[in-house]
Amino acid sequence: MHDIQQKLEAMRAKARLGGGQKRIDSQHAKGKLTARERLELLLDEGTFEEWDMFVEHRCADFGMADNKVPGDGVVTGYGMINGRLVFVFSQDFTVFGGALSEAHAEKICKIMDQAMKVGAPVIGLNDSGGARIQEGVASLGGYADVFQRNVMASGVIPQISLIMGPCAGGAVYSPAMTDFIFMVKDSSYMFVTGPEVVKTVTHEEVTAEELGGAIAHTSRSGVADLAFENDVEAIQMLRRFYNYLPLNNKEKPPVRPSGDPAGRLDHSLDTLVPDNPNKPYEIKELIYKVVDDGDFFEIQRDYARNIVVGMARMDGQTVGIVANNPMVLAGCLDIKSSIKAARFVRFCDAFNIPVITFVDVPGFMPGTSQEYGGIIKHGAKLLYAYAECTVPKVTVITRKAYGGAYDVMSSKHLRGDVNFAWPNAEIAVMGAKGAVEIIFREDKGDPAKLAAKEAEYKARFANPFVAGARGFIDDVIQPHETRKRICRSLAMLKDKKLDNPWRKHGNIPL
Ligand code: HXC
Repeated sequence: MHDIQQKLEAMRAKARLGGGQKRIDSQHAKGKLTARERLELLLDEGTFEEWDMFVEHRCADFGMADNKVPGDGVVTGYGMINGRLVFVFSQDFTVFGGALSEAHAEKICKIMDQAMKVGAPVIGLNDSGGARIQEGVASLGGYADVFQRNVMASGVIPQISLIMGPCAGGAVYSPAMTDFIFMVKDSSYMFVTGPEVVKTVTHEEVTAEELGGAIAHTSRSGVADLAFENDVEAIQMLRRFYNYLPLNNKEKPPVRPSGDPAGRLDHSLDTLVPDNPNKPYEIKELIYKVVDDGDFFEIQRDYARNIVVGMARMDGQTVGIVANNPMVLAGCLDIKSSIKAARFVRFCDAFNIPVITFVDVPGFMPGTSQEYGGIIKHGAKLLYAYAECTVPKVTVITRKAYGGAYDVMSSKHLRGDVNFAWPNAEIAVMGAKGAVEIIFREDKGDPAKLAAKEAEYKARFANPFVAGARGFIDDVIQPHETRKRICRSLAMLKDKKLDNPWRKHGNIPL
């Protein structure tokens, strides 16, 4: 018995060494942690249960029959994050560059299947040279098996990807189908074709970092949600982020009691919005002042900054926050911001997270680039997302709510549960100046008359009471009581039930 136990320990030690000390050193020299070191940081101490440590590939081509490493380049299993279950896979770049073989894919599929059975999220740590070149189509089949599971798990369990090394070619499509992608600056990249192919086909000269690094994807493409300085920071932030999420779509998100009173007033909010309606202000100040302990986990903060999205808590309960930001493009809705917010609203809706919307929106962005880019179709995504959303929806109009954007931003008409406006809110088809220039076009040459009409239009429509008179606004509230009113609304909505009609699936304007 003793011998066999020793043999087991020797086998484990071999597996734990992955591709060997030399390659581990080289991983460290690149500023990267190994697959196992990453899992140690991600999971609560001593909670990792590893599966399939002894799995090996079955490839016999190109000298692979004698070149086997137990575990085959990916560490899989489950563990806890702050006491809550999670399934994980962590690709081991020291073993065949983390390349995905048939057996490697089977390991990932196994934990995904188990996660679906028990209803727990999957976190993938990606660091891989892509398809295992020696295996050919068997590897491609493995990828497709993972893709299929990503799609089946979408909206059932949260899926999060951490990109911590190469992720190229078709391999990018597994993270792309997960709910959130975090990247590490300077050591991770994602692209469909690398710099060499780009150079051959389009003659563009570009580095891997420029083409698909963390900055490119969090600020230009919007493919990734957040960029971090190094592996440690990315993993620590992921642990924080995990605390907001439910384990699956049948669960409510965890409640974290806070010492921050639900009825807390903040009088500084009374002067947040400038008197001049054309002057911007920082909407995040409102968010920080309203949520529990000023703790707001912003997502996609460097992309489409005219809309702000992220997780926070109100009276201990996870909420998703969506807010137009007048600081950027005057808070207009454009293609990128519509897509960004639509995807976020749909995530919240899928996972029982109430949506709080702060509205200050002068409308949709005009211009040929927006129209040719399909603002009609993309703006409709946000409209669709809010309209199909059945979780509690609380909306606060802080200033402008003009035109179609008023309807889109979680209005009463899209089944907003509680819709508030601040006293200075302007809920109208458009701003007074633009409205008068259209209605009184023939008076173009008479500035005095136009000014008088503008003042009249403003007095008539630039307030929340016209909407209030129709019940489109449930109440006009003092800015300083915003937190209290939202918390009470959420408490009232705790057991909200609302179902959409049965259908195979809707046809969101993609
Ligand atoms: C097998 C691979 C591999 C792969 C890397 N390795 N990629 N083995 N299949 N895809 C091995 C290397 O041979 C090397 O082995 C070790 O991993 C580390 O690789 P290095 O090249 O030394 O590392 P580095 O210089 O950091 O470069 C990393 C890299 C490069 C940029 C990822 O290895 C590379 O370009 N690899 C090939 C990428 C690729 O073309 N993949 C297929 C893409 S198509 P030793 O023994 O020396 O340590 C694809 C399609 C997916 O993925 C489709 C899904 C539908």
